[in-house]
Amino acid sequence: MKPSRLNACGEWVLDRFPLASLWKDHMTHYYAPKNFNFWYFFGSLALLVLVNQFLTGILLTMNYKPDAKLAFDSVEYIMRDVSWGWLVRYMHSTGASAFFIVVYLHMFRGIMYGSFKQPRELIWIFGMLIFVALMAEAFMGYLLPWGQMSYWGAQVIISLFSAIPVIGDDLSLWIRGDYVVSDATLNRFFAFHVIAVPLVLVMLVFMHIVALHEVGSNNPDGIDIKKVKDKDGVPLDGIPFHPYYTVKDIAGVGVFLIFFATIIFYMPEMGGYFLEHANFIPADPMKTPEHIAPLWYFTPFYAILRAIPDKFAGVIGMGGAIVVLFLLPWLDRNPVRSIRYRGGIYKKALALFVISFIALGYLGTQPATPVMTNVARVFTAIYFGFFLLMPIYTRWEKTKPVPERVTAELSLEEQFPAFIEAFEEITEVAPEPVDDGQHHAFRSTFFSRRPNPEGIRNVTTRLAKKLKESLD
Ligand code: HEM
Repeated sequence: MKPSRLNACGEWVLDRFPLASLWKDHMTHYYAPKNFNFWYFFGSLALLVLVNQFLTGILLTMNYKPDAKLAFDSVEYIMRDVSWGWLVRYMHSTGASAFFIVVYLHMFRGIMYGSFKQPRELIWIFGMLIFVALMAEAFMGYLLPWGQMSYWGAQVIISLFSAIPVIGDDLSLWIRGDYVVSDATLNRFFAFHVIAVPLVLVMLVFMHIVALHEVGSNNPDGIDIKKVKDKDGVPLDGIPFHPYYTVKDIAGVGVFLIFFATIIFYMPEMGGYFLEHANFIPADPMKTPEHIAPLWYFTPFYAILRAIPDKFAGVIGMGGAIVVLFLLPWLDRNPVRSIRYRGGIYKKALALFVISFIALGYLGTQPATPVMTNVARVFTAIYFGFFLLMPIYTRWEKTKPVPERVTAELSLEEQFPAFIEAFEEITEVAPEPVDDGQHHAFRSTFFSRRPNPEGIRNVTTRLAKKLKESLD
């Protein structure tokens, strides 16, 4: 097509569709705080993984058979006979775990910088709904390969619903569509996994971003950049999202893809954490695996379930662990957003929460021995303590004064002399190696440096002091 025709075509569309103003309002004239750090990569990375899951999912569906007799073999067929099928499947299975890693880090960023607080409560609520939909999506997807763990995992989790008084048994029967997990369950999970939940997810992500663009992004200082504007109404501490953050986000995508590709090509099962070993055995309703554990991203909640002795109370505890996250904007009573200006109590409470979440995640992968169960009880108490005591300790804490304008972090180049200084301290130049004709000597700088215990001690002490200062 001639350029003039192409232009005319473009004009024709723009007269009928607000593409130019959408691009302007949400990209080139959307002012984001200029002090975003790497924690702000995870929103765009979550979008990237979402697209990856859609594209690879569509390709998988072309050869997958949602039939209890054929499902397992169809996945093996994809892995062995379909061109590039192994890659598409590993991209999808690794993508599922990557999704949760990215989303957990994205949520942690929100908790750290108080992004859930007024006026961003709705962004948080939409985010939590996305999280719940994502868990449903992952749970139903995991049944599809129809391996031993798919089958028994679904059996255990659906039977939890039967613990609910009065309606429990009927409810779990209704979910399964049969008295045990069967072909009927597989068919409905396929329908939900492939179309219903993805539609809900896309809608929620859309609303999440609309809500974000209405109030504007938070930032590592937790300051409202709209308070200080120039004469044209542009926030002084804001920069246009495009091109500045599109380019920055591409750098994040590059780093992410290095990790993602390394896992796909070199360790797609990730030692049984991303693809469980028992799932390479076809589902056998007559043979329960010795140790049933969900995939790693569910294990913190699974550990809470097992830590509570009564089955129904356990289900409530597990659900409650997710519900309290929804309530976060109303549990935190301190007006200061960012952890940078909050008191030591909050920093320590958050550190304890992270430790308990990771510990519960580990315990959930292990067999429930009495010792493990007791340890899980302690961490469950810390998990809930973080949220339920929050209205009290966030009122007590002594916060630091919050600056009017965003602060500039030292750039990598500015920090470079400090790196070199630390390197000089922790190493010392070894004496010149002898080269007497018999002993060959290495002359490169690398080999002539050796560890300096005194310097290592100094640098570590400085680091520890800094860490302590930031906690107080
Ligand atoms: C499919 C999953 C998700 C996608 C695609 C997504 C996408 C995004 C994007 C693109 C941003 C703006 C960039 C950024 O701030 O990083 C954002 C911000 C935000 N998201 Fe998400 N998100 C997802 C899940 C969640 C979840 C599960 C939560 C929490 C429960 C959450 C809470 C937030 C909050 C509070 C912000 C504002 C952050 C700030 O301004 O500091 N998101 N999200």
